[in-house]
Amino acid sequence: MKVLVVGAGGREHALVWKLAQSPHVTKIWCAPGNAGIAQERVGQSLTECVGIGAEDLPALLEFARQNKPDLTVVGPDNPLAIGIVDLFQGAGLRIWGPNRKAAQFEASKAFSQAFMEKYGIPTAKSGTFSEAAAAKDFADKLHGCCAVKADGLALGKGVIICASMSEARTAIDEMLVGNKFGAAGSRVVIQELLQGMEISLHAICDGKAAKIFPTSQDHKRIGEGDTGLNTGGMGAYSPTPFLNEKELAAVGRMILSPWLKGCAAEGIDYRGILYPGVMLTESGPKVLEFNARFGDPETQVYLPRMETDLYEVLDASVNGTLNRLELRWRPEVAVCVVMASAGYPADYAKGKPITGLDEAARLPDVKVFHAGTAVADGQIVTNGGRVLGVTAWAKDLATARMKALDAVSRIQFDGAQFRRDIAAKGI
Ligand code: AMP
Ligand code: GLY
Repeated sequence: MKVLVVGAGGREHALVWKLAQSPHVTKIWCAPGNAGIAQERVGQSLTECVGIGAEDLPALLEFARQNKPDLTVVGPDNPLAIGIVDLFQGAGLRIWGPNRKAAQFEASKAFSQAFMEKYGIPTAKSGTFSEAAAAKDFADKLHGCCAVKADGLALGKGVIICASMSEARTAIDEMLVGNKFGAAGSRVVIQELLQGMEISLHAICDGKAAKIFPTSQDHKRIGEGDTGLNTGGMGAYSPTPFLNEKELAAVGRMILSPWLKGCAAEGIDYRGILYPGVMLTESGPKVLEFNARFGDPETQVYLPRMETDLYEVLDASVNGTLNRLELRWRPEVAVCVVMASAGYPADYAKGKPITGLDEAARLPDVKVFHAGTAVADGQIVTNGGRVLGVTAWAKDLATARMKALDAVSRIQFDGAQFRRDIAAKGI
């Protein structure tokens, strides 16, 4: 089978790496890919990176028409939100990921919130507003302790956590009056602030059924001890110790049973990953948001642990045959430490030479996933905010983290930042 993977980050590197291990897969293209993806071997040949952006749907369609992949696998949220799946299906091409209607779970927080309330999925108390005055009245009832969320996709920056009414007023005005996030912020969802342990859940769905993955946890802040600015994610681990198998199954049922019922009632044919961000509160689990794709860096810890052939998983998700597939996981736990550019998540420079990658790659039980990397003058250089996701696996989290940090210590680029405390809550 020939596979086209769409995207360029650590998540897509993990997808390519895992797909390349499948005996079904004979050829992989990645659009646009990165320097690490281009080094992944599929049998005798290398993955072919093609210079088409993940959001350039006409060029992706043209490429697929000419090269005829048996399956296209979509990594990021934006192409899903703008309808890559509908476009490919309309052209008779097989593609994995939710269609535009289904991708609304991520593309519109107002849609998700209304859906959760209608179908009884546990979530935060909330209101949806397009008028600043009404939004402020609602925030006032929460004494300003709230999360103000832009309705649409905002590059992961559309959530402002407020601890006072003056912060809430500023956040509401920025979005609804100042148009800070453009159309994405012309409606806001305001949620009560929830306290508890935040985890990531993933479920693979096939339009009828959903199978839950083990738990994982991301680390959104740039600084150790969860301090500083929010990022795309500075590291992850799986599984977490916060839910045992029975509890995970129960939480899965609480969220996924009403969600599947709601999808059936609303005519939503969801084939892809549903990734709920969940707060484990004193009064039970509550969904903060839904994503309609694999998490990044969660994918970098899930796929090294996945025993089942990923091609078979995605194929069953497209075909609607997940009930015949068993998801199996290795007993080892995995920790991913992200290495980011100096200055990230604010402005950062690109083009810094990266050394030590070969040495790190020789370590056992380690895989270095590339996120923002490119090749310049024959040398691998930085090309993004998050540069590498250094993943290691072992029998316990402390050992896995030690191995990941050992690998990190072999890799150098100017100003590299990373957190030494990934998985601390789980250890
Ligand atoms: P989201 O993109 O909706 O997941 O929000 C980004 C981050 O903000 C989440 O990962 C949480 O850490 C935090 N957050 C979002 N909503 C809430 C909430 N209602 N209560 C507490 N923290 C929240
Ligand atoms: N792990 C954060 C995200 O993928 O949105």
